[in-house]
Amino acid sequence: MAKSSTQFTCAECGAVHKKWAGRCDACGAWNTISEEQVLETGPRAAAGGRRIALGPLAADDKPLIRRESGIAELNRVLGGGLVPGSAILVGGDPGIGKSTLLLQAAADFARGGANVVYITGEEAAAQVRMRADRLGLSQAPMRLAAETALRDIVATLDKERPDLAIIDSIQTMWSDQIGAAPGSVSQVRAAAHDLTSLAKRRGVSVMLVGHVTKDGQIAGPRVVEHMVDTVLYFEGERGHQFRILRAVKNRFGPADEIGVFEMTGGGLSEVANPSALFLGERENRTPGAVVFAGIEGTRPVLVEIQALVASSPLATPRRSVVGWDGARLAMILAVLEARCGLAFAGHDVYLNVAGGLRIGEPAADLAVAAALVSARQDIALPPDAAVFGEISLSGGLRPVAQADARVREAQKLGFTRAYVPNGLKSLDNTDMQIARFDTLRGFIDGIF
Ligand code: TYD
Ligand code: MG
Repeated sequence: MAKSSTQFTCAECGAVHKKWAGRCDACGAWNTISEEQVLETGPRAAAGGRRIALGPLAADDKPLIRRESGIAELNRVLGGGLVPGSAILVGGDPGIGKSTLLLQAAADFARGGANVVYITGEEAAAQVRMRADRLGLSQAPMRLAAETALRDIVATLDKERPDLAIIDSIQTMWSDQIGAAPGSVSQVRAAAHDLTSLAKRRGVSVMLVGHVTKDGQIAGPRVVEHMVDTVLYFEGERGHQFRILRAVKNRFGPADEIGVFEMTGGGLSEVANPSALFLGERENRTPGAVVFAGIEGTRPVLVEIQALVASSPLATPRRSVVGWDGARLAMILAVLEARCGLAFAGHDVYLNVAGGLRIGEPAADLAVAAALVSARQDIALPPDAAVFGEISLSGGLRPVAQADARVREAQKLGFTRAYVPNGLKSLDNTDMQIARFDTLRGFIDGIF
């Protein structure tokens, strides 16, 4: 007789606790911990187990054939196309456009000859049909069902063996073998487990939609990230029409690759040249606005970094960041104060990455510092200058990777000069004026 025991799991981050608590120690979320059954492991669980077949490491040499969709931005994020038998999680805030994207992708794969099944647990089939109709996709040769019973879905896919199955969403799936409500950590994990093992067993690619949740009653996509091959997040600001599909994990391609889309009345359309889009709203010579030549995945992207520095009545002035890391901003402010004698005490600081993009690269340091100094001194940078470089705690500038690609992209978009760290080996055969600096102090003295 198996000993039944329980544990307490956080719905936000999946951390396991011995007892219930109001707040998860691991991620700091409130009211996210709930009780669940522990499955037995160890020697006793192995009694009566079947002996599995062990095979050689050498591959049976079928080359990996990826299936490409007609949506180039999606292919790019997947690492060049859809790998048969792979499990892909597509996470994002509710309403960001996940269902729209996957319906468009499904129709596209189907038109390309793939056998595609779309299972929705969120909407009625009629609603999906209506949307497909509005998007002009209703003639695509794909099939559709509205269902949430995991057992029936797995049995169906096992028989049908489509090339691609889309499950919208993982939080609505329900396994009758688990005595917990749909959306709980154990239900979501069970659904992800059954569907990914089906993917491996039958060579069916599965795409799982996962809503990022805020209230903690429903498990978020993070609790299944480790089970799938590829994790994509669909991001964007409400009120902005731009949407960014970002690979945060990919067993079959580079992580950190992005695809850029625009939400229109007719669904999502691809943005092939994101730099032009992120610079689109640029005015000439505004103090505090600096163009950063960045790299997202394998592609150079130019984006405007905007800073506002205003004197503050608050004892602890405000530091507000959109699209960048708040801790990194604090570091740059400290370096500006300690190494360049520019204090921001008594000032509110706002930093914003235009267009709703999130930047993770340290190469943005110099552009951020330039934006902050430009805003504080009320002096604009030349409008045809692009900036990149990492800043160290000593105030030195460090070279960054792919400098050539950054400069080439800037040149392509009409920029004529670049401010960069010293020590970059390449950058010789370009028509751009390249100004090189050893330290942040040298940069500020030279430019402002
Ligand atoms: P949806 O794909 O349903 O989001 P999710 O599945 O991530 O919850 O997208 C919903 C939003 O997208 C909704 O606010 C309306 C908008 N939208 C458009 O602007 N144009 C369109 O053609 C479609 C289908 C949706
Ligand atoms: Mg949806």
